[in-house]
Amino acid sequence: MTEAQSTPLAFGQPAAAVPDWHPSDWRQRPVVQVPDWPDAEALARVEGQLRKLPPLVFAGEARRLEQKLAAVSRGDAFLLQGGDCAESFAEFSANNIRDTLRALLQMAIVLTFGGRKPVVKVGRLAGQFAKPRSSPTETVVLPDGSEITLPAYRGDMVNGMEADADRRRPDPGRLIEAYHQSTSTLNLLRAFTSGGYADLHEVHRWNLDFVRQSPAGDRYAQMAGRLGEALEFMEAIGISSASAPQLATAELYTSHEALILEYEEALTRVDSTTGRYYDCSAHLLWIGDRTRDPEGAHVRFLQGIGNPVGLKCGPSLSPDTLLRLCDKLNPANRPGRLLLISRMGAGKVETALPPLLKAVEREGRHVAWACDPMHGNTVRSSVGLKTRAFEDIISEVKGFFAAHEAVGTHPGGLHIEMTGQNVTECLGGGDAITEDRLGHRYHTHCDPRLNANQALELAFLIAEKLAAR
Ligand code: TRP
Ligand code: MN
Repeated sequence: MTEAQSTPLAFGQPAAAVPDWHPSDWRQRPVVQVPDWPDAEALARVEGQLRKLPPLVFAGEARRLEQKLAAVSRGDAFLLQGGDCAESFAEFSANNIRDTLRALLQMAIVLTFGGRKPVVKVGRLAGQFAKPRSSPTETVVLPDGSEITLPAYRGDMVNGMEADADRRRPDPGRLIEAYHQSTSTLNLLRAFTSGGYADLHEVHRWNLDFVRQSPAGDRYAQMAGRLGEALEFMEAIGISSASAPQLATAELYTSHEALILEYEEALTRVDSTTGRYYDCSAHLLWIGDRTRDPEGAHVRFLQGIGNPVGLKCGPSLSPDTLLRLCDKLNPANRPGRLLLISRMGAGKVETALPPLLKAVEREGRHVAWACDPMHGNTVRSSVGLKTRAFEDIISEVKGFFAAHEAVGTHPGGLHIEMTGQNVTECLGGGDAITEDRLGHRYHTHCDPRLNANQALELAFLIAEKLAAR
């Protein structure tokens, strides 16, 4: 038993949201999308090490996020959740982290300024290292033309992406490396957001060179000018960072898909203030569309933790199953506990989403709804690379807003895969990325991400939608 788990519970408090729950009892449930770890002893050793390492986040922060998400579910705030499809060990650098943060800050400012509502900022960051795959193996064509079948790449916290049998073998040591990369990523994010980088007086500086030259960058510069004037006016009447510290720091939360349950279990601790279990690997954890079996291991695990939890909702999810999942994941129907992330695809959102919205509304479930316009719109381009068309992404976002408008519910947020880098992974947008240019700067370890320009353009579109409501 670990130190954290042996902490006595606060008097009269149940330790988990559901009775008789324990962080390890997912192990008795059917589990999908987890690696076949070849060396059970090495895995157990790593789990023991992880259990002794400090938590990444404090439970009080997760509770604060729950309150913010409750505001989202009431329509009083908007959620912006974004970051890499998958973080990688190779692309880990201070510049990368800073650039993703600054693209997120730019988007948040555009949404706040245009939508006139607080924006809850959540990164897909500092822990987003694992990927569900459609097949457990993958056949790769080697440079000499021969083919080999390898275990699928499941993200850097499991195995290596290289087409090499040794590198593809799941290695539990990678869990430790992912933990350490997450801690230093989170440390830098905390330094930036509290140390002055995210100060509202800095908005002009978040406009990167390659962004500044685009139409969205232009528009951003104009908006930053207006915001600067508003700040100067406020300063003149005596409101400055000294009297209003929220001007100088930004609140940012972290999230990732809770996929590798050995890792999540090891970072689950009893919070000494409330006596409840929290998964301290991130503030918010979500379940993917492929691991949402109501009786399966992933749902069982997320049931018992105190953090807010997300659930990806794809086109195959029926209203009945969704309601069952709401019961499992949020039995007390607490506002802010459950975030439903719709990922239907541009062609399906307007028919597939309303029945889910209606069922949840009819049954009086408190949830926050966000739109993931990325995962239902992935296609293979003529040059063989996975891509997504910016116009499909826009079209799904519009469909999401239209569905909420029709049903009378709140379009609460956006969940995207993006980067602050000037990549060419998604087609279209302000600088009209074409299929023949996809290969130029295609760096993703998994799915194609919006670049900083495309992300900013999307933020302007949503800000207009929010302002119109
Ligand atoms: N503290 C507020 C917040 O986090 C306002 C704020 C400060 C902000 N810097 C920011 C908002 C940068 C967006 C981006 O929301
Ligand atoms: Mn993805």
